[in-house]
Amino acid sequence: MAKKTIPKKFWADRNISFEEMQKKSRTEIFAILKQFGEKQNIPNISWIGVNVLQFFLQLQKPKKVLEMGSANGFSSCIIADQLEKWDGKLLTGDVSEPSLESAQLNAEICNLQNIEFRFGNILQTIKKEDGPFDFVFIDAQKSWTHKFFMFAETLLSENGIIVVDDTQKFPDKMKSFHNHITREKDNWNWFTVPESDDAIMVFTRKKRENKKEVL
Ligand SMILES: C[S@@+](CC[C@H](N)C(=O)[O-])C[C@H]1O[C@@H](n2cnc3c(N)ncnc32)[C@H](O)[C@@H]1O
Repeated sequence: MAKKTIPKKFWADRNISFEEMQKKSRTEIFAILKQFGEKQNIPNISWIGVNVLQFFLQLQKPKKVLEMGSANGFSSCIIADQLEKWDGKLLTGDVSEPSLESAQLNAEICNLQNIEFRFGNILQTIKKEDGPFDFVFIDAQKSWTHKFFMFAETLLSENGIIVVDDTQKFPDKMKSFHNHITREKDNWNWFTVPESDDAIMVFTRKKRENKKEVL
């Protein structure tokens, strides 16, 4: 999506202006965005999810991150805030134009310059040449999570990490994803973060030598 200037009046929280927001620290901005998301029923990642993303980002220090599903950019800003520390870049996208525009505004409020936004179905807007990515965060249409995961596999660097949000919240919609990872169990290590009500899962590739059968 070509970068366009979005009128600041579209900043959505009428209780606080865009300019007032810009004066706040990022920690304060994140707290306000989270509260706003809760009021507006925006399905932003939970605070535990935030901790998981921050923890694995700090551990791995990825240079290139892909996010599938930005919504209003709450998680995008959380990710980009970490990446800024080691000059990493985030590519994110959303199929909803108003969501993506508010994500762009929120990144501007946070003064984050390391995010590229793409509008449209992420399965079409992200090309193989955009990768490889060291870290992929999947948080888009739940019933397509298996498709996003398979796509992420093709874009991921050898030691990359995939994080998937909401793996238990929508059992019917996530069934094909769970079937997929069960079939793929020889290729991936994973765990589900305890205590996360949305059951965030973290995946890394199994190394070839670990896959050999022991006779
Ligand atoms: C759960 S919300 C994302 C929340 C965001 N990651 C956060 O934590 O702040 C899911 C978003 O994915 C978007 N989405 C769904 N299917 C998509 C697709 N195929 N490509 C891009 N975005 C998609 C929706 O429009 C929605 O805004």
